[in-house]
Amino acid sequence: MTRNRNLKRRVRLRAAKTGESYTSARRQLIPDEPPASKFEAQRPSDYLLRAAASPAGRTYKTLAIEQLAIDPANTILDLGCGTGGELDPLLRALGPAGSLIGVDADEEALRAARDRFEDPRLKLIVGDAHTLALDDGSVDRAYVDRTAQHLTAPATVLSELRRILRPDGRVVLAEPDWQTLVIDSPEPELAETYRRFVIEEVIRNPRIGSELPRLVQHAGLQLDTVIPVTATYTDPIEGDRIFGFARVTRRAVAAGYLDPDQADRWLGYLGGGPFFASLTVFITVATRIC
Ligand SMILES: C[S@@+](CC[C@H](N)C(=O)[O-])C[C@H]1O[C@@H](n2cnc3c(N)ncnc32)[C@H](O)[C@@H]1O
Repeated sequence: MTRNRNLKRRVRLRAAKTGESYTSARRQLIPDEPPASKFEAQRPSDYLLRAAASPAGRTYKTLAIEQLAIDPANTILDLGCGTGGELDPLLRALGPAGSLIGVDADEEALRAARDRFEDPRLKLIVGDAHTLALDDGSVDRAYVDRTAQHLTAPATVLSELRRILRPDGRVVLAEPDWQTLVIDSPEPELAETYRRFVIEEVIRNPRIGSELPRLVQHAGLQLDTVIPVTATYTDPIEGDRIFGFARVTRRAVAAGYLDPDQADRWLGYLGGGPFFASLTVFITVATRIC
């Protein structure tokens, strides 16, 4: 902390003397610090697929899909399938008699998914999770991956899932709890403010990962198990691909959570030295018993 305070003082002195910005002065004093601009300014269109293919994405998706206990002849619903990050492993688990229905509200994402898959067992439908155009008891397995965090009314969607599941049908939901977001910073208050901004302003249902065990039971489903999977990141660029540091920080400044100087320091720390962040995704497994 003392070292950090000394560094900050030296950076401020240099900035005052040379007229440089705080970030530029800091970069001169720590020459190997990568600039914050290394972080992505815009969310790339293949964001979801890259997240799915990352080591952390592969780890929790593999575990979650295992929990579906898919029979090759099943009908599976992937609710909020997006650009299709998990369609491939789901299709691979099915035999010729199985079928997979991907539903998403975003037409553009579904178009990208359609471009990637040509499989007669796969049907991709534009639709709203709150009012599914699927018959009662018509699905054996339902998979929900990081979609419940965005829903307007998760309880309504769980009732819909119960309705469309066959008796003994299973639902697996893989959702983060953003209260578990940990990002190391020499100024812990900045990390705390950033997490508070994410919870209060960025994610609609930031606690959904730990709420689902309760919500599935309220929806009349039997809770089978909850598996926490904690992803850790030691490479800031890999972390940025998931968390979008520059974009979210820019929004935090606009919303008055961080001032520009704090934002510069925050991004400077994230991009400039040893990095550690983690987030827990909770895999909730439930069954329709009647
Ligand atoms: C974070 S993405 C996850 C996509 C995919 N499951 C994956 O893991 O790659 C969330 C998806 O949920 C979809 N979504 C959000 N609200 C929805 C709703 N009410 N009905 C259907 N899809 C919705 C979004 O369009 C988006 O594609």
